[in-house]
Amino acid sequence: MNVIDSMGDEPIGNFGLSSLYHLTYCSRAAAGLDKPAVDRLVAVAQRRNPAVGITGMLVFGSGIFFQWLEGPRDEVIKLMTSIKADTRHDTVVELTESEEVRERLFPTWAMELVEPDDVRAVLEDALSSVDDEKNAQALRRLLQQIESSEIGGADKG
Ligand SMILES: Cc1cc2nc3c(=O)[nH]c(=O)nc-3n(C[C@H](O)[C@H](O)[C@H](O)COP(=O)(O)O)c2cc1C
Repeated sequence: MNVIDSMGDEPIGNFGLSSLYHLTYCSRAAAGLDKPAVDRLVAVAQRRNPAVGITGMLVFGSGIFFQWLEGPRDEVIKLMTSIKADTRHDTVVELTESEEVRERLFPTWAMELVEPDDVRAVLEDALSSVDDEKNAQALRRLLQQIESSEIGGADKG
């Protein structure tokens, strides 16, 4: 399946230029947490995030999570407090955060689960269609981060 096909068309939250906060982290999934449990977690996130203007991407593979969260600063920080306390993972390491006036990287993704094998294609596709230089920089940083992490670093292809 092409992950790009699963992108919805409807933008979530304040689309367009406004102050946007982003945060990324990686963590280690709890022992025994399987794909169906991750799918359930994502379904809940997809229901809840639009109400608070949060969009993003969750990568899960080899027992590691990597998540990109973007939205209003207060809401992202509040969600991150819940996420850190969640026993379905541990060793949460915050990687990057910023607050900038720019458009969302994932305006239509309430929370999209992306396979590690697909993450580069997703980011490269987003990079090829972005016009805002700040967004392009954010995407390039994210690509670098993924490539140097356990998630994207496996010797595939
Ligand atoms: C890796 C991971 C990612 C998560 N991402 C989200 C998310 O994007 N949105 C969300 O509402 N909950 C997410 N959750 C679930 C939250 O940790 C929490 O269970 C949920 O927000 C309910 O929190 P509350 O009971 O404190 O309100 C995630 C959990 C994990 C383990």
